[in-house]
Amino acid sequence: ASTSSAAPDVSSRIPPYPKLLSKLSEVRRILDKRLLTLAEKILYSHLDRPEESLLTNTQNGASIRGQANLKLKPDRVAMQDASAQMALLQFMSCGLPTTAVPASIHCDHMIVGEKGADTDLPASIRGNKEVFDFLESAAKKYGIEFWPPGAGIIHQSVLENYSAPGLMMLGTDSHTPNAGGLGAIAIGVGGADAVDALVDAPWELKAPRILGVRLEGELSGWASPKDVILNLAGQLTVKGGTGFIIEYFGSGVETLSCTGMATICNMGAEVGATTSIFPSSSRHIPYLEATHRTLIAAAAGTIASAPEARNLLRADCHAEYDQVITIDLSELEPHINGPFTPDLSTPLSKFSDMVEVNSWPKTFGAGLIGSCTNSSYQDMTRAEDLVKQASAAGLRPKADFFISPGSEQIRATLERDSTLNTLSSAGGTVLANACGPCIGQWKRTDDVRKGDSNAIFTSYNRNFPGRNDGNRATMNFLASPELVTALAYSGSTTFNPMTDTLSTPSGEAFRFSPPRGEELPSAGFAQGNPAFLPTTGKADPSIEVQVDPHSSRLALLGSFAPFPQTELSGLRVLYKVKGQCTTDTISAAENTLIGAVNAATGETNTAYDFDGSQATIPELAKRWKGEGKEWIVVAEHNYGEGSAREHAALQLRYLGGRVLLAKSFARIHETNLKKQGVVPLTFVNEGDYDLLDACDEVSNEGLLDVLRSGGQGQVRLKVQKRDGKEVVVETKHTLSVDQCGFILAGSALNLLALKASE
Ligand code: F3S
Repeated sequence: ASTSSAAPDVSSRIPPYPKLLSKLSEVRRILDKRLLTLAEKILYSHLDRPEESLLTNTQNGASIRGQANLKLKPDRVAMQDASAQMALLQFMSCGLPTTAVPASIHCDHMIVGEKGADTDLPASIRGNKEVFDFLESAAKKYGIEFWPPGAGIIHQSVLENYSAPGLMMLGTDSHTPNAGGLGAIAIGVGGADAVDALVDAPWELKAPRILGVRLEGELSGWASPKDVILNLAGQLTVKGGTGFIIEYFGSGVETLSCTGMATICNMGAEVGATTSIFPSSSRHIPYLEATHRTLIAAAAGTIASAPEARNLLRADCHAEYDQVITIDLSELEPHINGPFTPDLSTPLSKFSDMVEVNSWPKTFGAGLIGSCTNSSYQDMTRAEDLVKQASAAGLRPKADFFISPGSEQIRATLERDSTLNTLSSAGGTVLANACGPCIGQWKRTDDVRKGDSNAIFTSYNRNFPGRNDGNRATMNFLASPELVTALAYSGSTTFNPMTDTLSTPSGEAFRFSPPRGEELPSAGFAQGNPAFLPTTGKADPSIEVQVDPHSSRLALLGSFAPFPQTELSGLRVLYKVKGQCTTDTISAAENTLIGAVNAATGETNTAYDFDGSQATIPELAKRWKGEGKEWIVVAEHNYGEGSAREHAALQLRYLGGRVLLAKSFARIHETNLKKQGVVPLTFVNEGDYDLLDACDEVSNEGLLDVLRSGGQGQVRLKVQKRDGKEVVVETKHTLSVDQCGFILAGSALNLLALKASE
């Protein structure tokens, strides 16, 4: 691999600061010099028409947060390979020659993690050739920078190349907020939302409330940035951040590395936050410079030191937050979160008690570090320090140990600086620069069988059942990479490396010293293999987009029928979901709702037809679709939490789903449903969930009026029970004028096509 460090052309990646500053003064004029948080400054400076967004439906600007529909013009779009397919297919149907804003595609989700990068990467490229060929050809045609398989994980590549203070970007992946570590507003969306930005249509967002997290003190010893967000997830729960942007502030901010801030922002997705952001910090400058962006460092530095009125990169003094949480970094203990949900947070010192009380496994089979969340130079050199300590004492890891570098740049740098050699000499397996085990592409070769209860420790961000190895009984405990590394040497879930000792081969007691690492490589970042650099981003109209006509994975999109000119009636309840229902649950292996628990029977993926016959959920949906019957799903809280995966909405619509009635929704999924023409409704009284059962028939009153009036009014559902009784359920909705247009047209794409043909 080459280790040259040629500076890329970064001038096209500088946020449009003059335009943003002039918008900021317009916003200040409209809001009569109101004090603004950082998130508000950056968001509102990206409004298409500030006056219209800030003054409509907001009591003349008095209550913007939670009320206003912001129509935004993001600066850039990033897409990962799984979701880029949907986004590009939709973009192509708009007939434009090139994207309206700079965009990038990152091939990271389809790479297997098994034996190591050298064998896994070529095998994955062969297995997914038609998808990668499609993405690369479309990228070249429309002028999108294409990062090939092996180049890195979307969020790490974005942090190293595109994120910048004051930037606003959309990404078709729920962990897009990772870029907030470098002071950007970066929001995870579905493909249809990304298309808004790609075609220069304003992208709509309900103005978020702002949750301030004040950081005080300084981390030391074993505590790491990961522990900040593991602790916060425990405080907020998986839905506590819904509708909020999390904005960090306080004296503790300056003590964190840029990549540490990115880790914290990355996992804001786990509490449902719209995004997370850090203010301009002196630690941003060396990171920008080390990643060859001196020009951006200089431009951002000038703005960050401007007087408050013209300072885009810091909150105004005394700006008000809707809620404030304080975390003292000096007091923070390492945490371990899980299993099965990222908000079950336990301080390290209490973890062995939790293992006992809950009868969690006492041993574990694998420790996995890296991923988009934790593969910075600092993370890896801290892990390396522990490995060196253990190797010097003659110890080897007892659990399997895997390392997923986040990008070719970080991999090549760690290789040059011998970090990877240290990790692999100790028995670690270095996987491809890709998601691998984090997204279920883990071909586990140890002796754990499907259904066997077992534990793993990862430095990843998400731990829903079945996510890593396809085994729903695998308990994934989330922790910092350094903690995962130390634990791998004991193989025991009850080991506390801060207080416990291991026995060396010569029988002596060995205790780890707290890990030490380097924030940035003293010799700069290495570029790595030039084959992993992106394409130029210049559009070439002569290129033909490659879609294999015999493909079972890709097809050019058809359109859905428009909304009927009547109320919906006779919708059957296909399934009543009990408890957690993530996008992994809804569209695992591209099969609708197969992980969802049946509220009546407790079974998974088992539905019942009117005659009592049993079927899987996709089978019953297809059967009803064949009979021309549309349907509704009933669910509990935070329906659709997890990824930005659009298939989770599209599959429902395709199979005849019309309405999704839940106690609450995760933001990205709720928007995805609307974009695909499915109506998301929530209960006015959550207890009414108990009134509905599978195979009830539902008619609505008021939906057509709501749609025609652009979102005014409410929808009432009349539920015909199977014993002939009727109950009425009052519902709420969050449909905006534009979203009503999507539903009426059949989908957002239909509406776009209609507008383009006018
Ligand atoms: Fe990939 Fe896992 Fe991150 S799937 S983008 S490494 S959350």
